[in-house]
Amino acid sequence: MKVMARRALRKTDPALDLSRHLKRWDELPKPWDAAAVFGRAAPLEVEVGSGKGLFLQTAAAAIPERDFLGVEIAAKYAHFAAARLAKQGLGNAVVVHCDAQRLFAELLPAGLLAAVHVYFPDPWWKKRHHKRRVMNERFVRDVARTLAAGGSLHFWTDVRERFDAVLELIARETPLVGPLEVAERPAQNQLDYRTHFERRMRLGAMPVYRAEFRKS
Ligand SMILES: C[S@@+](CC[C@H](N)C(=O)[O-])C[C@H]1O[C@@H](n2cnc3c(N)ncnc32)[C@H](O)[C@@H]1O
Repeated sequence: MKVMARRALRKTDPALDLSRHLKRWDELPKPWDAAAVFGRAAPLEVEVGSGKGLFLQTAAAAIPERDFLGVEIAAKYAHFAAARLAKQGLGNAVVVHCDAQRLFAELLPAGLLAAVHVYFPDPWWKKRHHKRRVMNERFVRDVARTLAAGGSLHFWTDVRERFDAVLELIARETPLVGPLEVAERPAQNQLDYRTHFERRMRLGAMPVYRAEFRKS
């Protein structure tokens, strides 16, 4: 991520109906209402910065009894990921185009989430970009608040300094238990990676630092 620029996005099919899979902040029910978004109440996992949506697609297809909400601040990536979910006809995954910090601080109630996933979140890894980083004090406290008992936070990055700093932040600001070690799995096929960024890092022989935390 530090050294590799992002490739241009492929065009999506303009005929796809994204109304079920792409939501804006002002379209979300307030207070939160899972049935209004997913048509049911099921254990909910949130991915922060869902990018091109590989995790959402794989996880939603693998675990149909759970719902997956991707949060993506960049309109073109939110659109791309939603198109991917719509194309696969996945009814248990939705992308919200908004700032994850706002979603957690203003909408998600305490104890709601089965898991929070944050993969390669910060294109802003330099010190002067501190303010833009999603994994800040307030946000990690919000993650701890919104996780259900037994829920987990997954945090992966390729930037060692950020990994160490975020682990320290979580230990200082939250009661989450961890870091639990997460082993690297050999990929079985071209898309057998947690996210596109994990794929890029591994194919480029770059390190990936992974941690999981649990709410007791
Ligand atoms: C480096 S990309 C990684 C994308 C994906 N997680 C992956 O691993 O392939 C980080 C993504 O997080 C998004 N992002 C950054 N800050 C965000 C925020 N506050 N709320 C929602 N998305 C955010 C960016 O727009 C970008 O798409």
